[in-house]
Amino acid sequence: MARIIAVTSGKGGVGKSNFVLNVGICLAMMDHRVCILDADLGLANIDVLLGIRPQRTLEDVILGETGIGDIIIRTDYRVDLIPGCSGTQDIADLSRERIEALVKQVSSISASSDYLLVDTASGISTGVISFLMAAPEVIIGVTPEPTSLTDAYAMIKVLRKNEYQGRISMFSSMVKNSSSGHNLYKKISSASQRFLDTHVEYLGSIYQDEKLSRAVSDQVPAVVRYPTSDISRCYRIIASTLLGQGAAEVDHERFWTRLITMILKSPKPRIAKSPSPADVQKNGDLRGMIRDLLDEQRRTRILLERLVEKIERQESGIRPKPGPST
Ligand SMILES: Nc1ncnc2c1ncn2[C@@H]1O[C@H](COP(=O)(O)OP(=O)(O)O)[C@@H](O)[C@H]1O
Ligand SMILES: [Mg+2]
Repeated sequence: MARIIAVTSGKGGVGKSNFVLNVGICLAMMDHRVCILDADLGLANIDVLLGIRPQRTLEDVILGETGIGDIIIRTDYRVDLIPGCSGTQDIADLSRERIEALVKQVSSISASSDYLLVDTASGISTGVISFLMAAPEVIIGVTPEPTSLTDAYAMIKVLRKNEYQGRISMFSSMVKNSSSGHNLYKKISSASQRFLDTHVEYLGSIYQDEKLSRAVSDQVPAVVRYPTSDISRCYRIIASTLLGQGAAEVDHERFWTRLITMILKSPKPRIAKSPSPADVQKNGDLRGMIRDLLDEQRRTRILLERLVEKIERQESGIRPKPGPST
């Protein structure tokens, strides 16, 4: 049965999705069966990091339009991907029997993988927290930014307040080197130990590296695009540390029930449901259009980031060195 690990952060943009993808690939390279569940509708989703466009998501499974087996994407990198969704208005009122049947169906993933890595939304929204409470292991990504630190601490506090029983680990992201990564960990772990009586484990650091941004722009995972780089080594070390941790106990049914509940509960600015067949067809088209628009938006953001990076590189190259003051 799979070891289930949810990856989250206090704030967005800490490198969570890249962590899930690259660490997942490292584990797969070590011959483990890895499944990634994309449960965040934020920017730069895993599908965009891979340059793929899922046609169907967990939403279609929940709507009963397809089976779980039909939405799993076998990527080129030996990891499977389950495209998630962040909730839908269409299905807020599923019966208990239907939810149970769904849980039975989707929990087959637990049996067919060794690692299930879940990329979750960041922030302390109740939807995410109540889902994390059902995850046996939670990994929190933290960057040196003060807000990231305080948000991560707040996240641990909320887990603790809700009497979370699982394992909490963290990784330091976008740090200069491993000692600054470790310093970040010491800050979080000593505050958590002292004020929350909670132990946080350390997985390691991911360096700030422009190769990561380039890999994102190229839509190829960093560990594949730059296998010998420092950043790939960072991901590999973390994968090994994870392997050394040993699995926490999992209540698979509870986990999958919470996942479905989170999807059902989280609000989503979707088109209104319409019962007429003509409108169903129209809604299908609209839904596709909205998906395409969101996808386009993410791609535009990636291109813009790339452009800004290029300009910055050029500027730092041509800017004259400060001469003697005149
Ligand atoms: N280690 C890193 N070095 C440099 N840039 C990074 C690093 N991690 C993340 N980034 C930048 O942050 C962006 C968001 O990363 P992502 O993994 O999508 O974060 P999250 O899932 O936490 O929102 C990336 O597209 C990249 O530009
Ligand atoms: Mg993300």
